[in-house]
Amino acid sequence: MKLKLLSIFSLVLFNQAFAQLGKFYATTDSENAKELKEKFPEEIEIVGAAGNQSAVFLTKKAAEFLHHNVITHGPGYVYKSSREQALSAINKVKKTNRVLSFTIDQDAVVTSAIAKVNADNIKNHIQTLENYGTRHHTTVKAQTAIQDLKTKWQALITASGRTDVSVRIVNHSGTPMPSLVLTINGASSPNDYVIVGGHMDSITNNVNNAPGADDDASGIATISEMIRVLLDINYRPSKTVEFMAYAAEEIGLVGSSEIAQDYALNNKNVISFVQFDMTNYKGSTKDVYLTTDSYNSNDLNLFLIELMEHYNKTGTHAFTYGNTICNYGCSDHFSWADNGYDAAFPFEASFSQYNPNIHTVNDKLSNMGNSATHAAKFAKLGLEFIIEAAKGSVLNVSDITNQSVNIFVKDKFLNYQLEKETVESVVIVDTSGRQLLESKNLLSFGKIDLNKINNGFYLAVFKTKSGKIVTKKFILE
Ligand code: BES
Ligand code: ZN
Repeated sequence: MKLKLLSIFSLVLFNQAFAQLGKFYATTDSENAKELKEKFPEEIEIVGAAGNQSAVFLTKKAAEFLHHNVITHGPGYVYKSSREQALSAINKVKKTNRVLSFTIDQDAVVTSAIAKVNADNIKNHIQTLENYGTRHHTTVKAQTAIQDLKTKWQALITASGRTDVSVRIVNHSGTPMPSLVLTINGASSPNDYVIVGGHMDSITNNVNNAPGADDDASGIATISEMIRVLLDINYRPSKTVEFMAYAAEEIGLVGSSEIAQDYALNNKNVISFVQFDMTNYKGSTKDVYLTTDSYNSNDLNLFLIELMEHYNKTGTHAFTYGNTICNYGCSDHFSWADNGYDAAFPFEASFSQYNPNIHTVNDKLSNMGNSATHAAKFAKLGLEFIIEAAKGSVLNVSDITNQSVNIFVKDKFLNYQLEKETVESVVIVDTSGRQLLESKNLLSFGKIDLNKINNGFYLAVFKTKSGKIVTKKFILE
């Protein structure tokens, strides 16, 4: 698959690049760049470095070395159309700084939303998308698929009678295929954006036969179900919420990178972005795998963990989570991260166990082994994220008003005190979802020794004797 992908990738990128010079610009890890420079001094020029990223000007030979020897998945570099693009990409300053500002206090809205998620809708939609036969970005069918999705989303809007919800086509310069964006205008902070996305295009070695049921009809069907539910409950966000179906992800994140770059150029305040790409193949024991690549947002991953601890721990909507790593900008969330925004990518399985049929003619619903019950978990997580992230306040309101647990960290001890209850257990979870330690049978106040834990962002999950779960974030430094 990697080889095939590389050749497709190469075709598109190198056709553009070789037409000019035979070398092309890209960004890559500084370590990779240095290693290449030592091995093949003639094949690569390092034109700049910032942090752990370098801007490079390299040949196909150097690029192939990167792909085969340095990384485990994907090309290993990000193509840039010019020296300026490469330099500005590595010098980008992170736009946002909202560390630990997410809160969870929308229980009533979230509970009513996740109860409405219907796996059958997702299943039927995946089948409909698979039935195009191909959604390869160069085909007319891909354009039809986007137009048909527009019709589907518009019908939901029309049925709701809402005038604050709209859908628009976005045309691109890098592909004939357009992307689609649905917007729910923010009622009080319309200039703050909370965005989720997936990609509409598909790929195999045969442009006319690329069913792409899991990759990524599943993601499009998952976000469509979120839209249906939100309109059904007459959801009104404070911030603007957008849903994006991207064009031409499979040839190098083309649709999403043009859109994310446009948002960044216009200084749009995107609070965070979550990608849904491959949601319906349960390849591993756990359900949702958060990707912890360095370009992803720790803060956002922690928030997603917190949401799952709060809403999906027990009962009808229970599911489990773990963590994994892509090792490369493997999907559209990278476009947002690359433009300085907080991004996350919850994935269907551990990376060593993802759907083996993707990018083949066998990427079909019938080969996924479930009728979208797996994808339904992602629709729930997406709804929880949207509703809690797009509400009014960005202040740590629940930490101020929710006095049921008070915590502070001093001298590597987590001090806690509960108002009325006794703690049964406290679990400390890191940004990767790993449980680092658990203390049991505690009092209503106490100290937990954090000396064995490295500095970083963590979540303390308190379970009380009466069964309540209270989560608190903290920084250890
Ligand atoms: N859905 C995949 C991403 C993916 C595949 C994630 C397998 C995890 C496991 C996506 O559509 C894709 O194929 N991405 C490419 C890179 C992209 C920049 C062309 C990849 O990961 O090889
Ligand atoms: Zn793919």
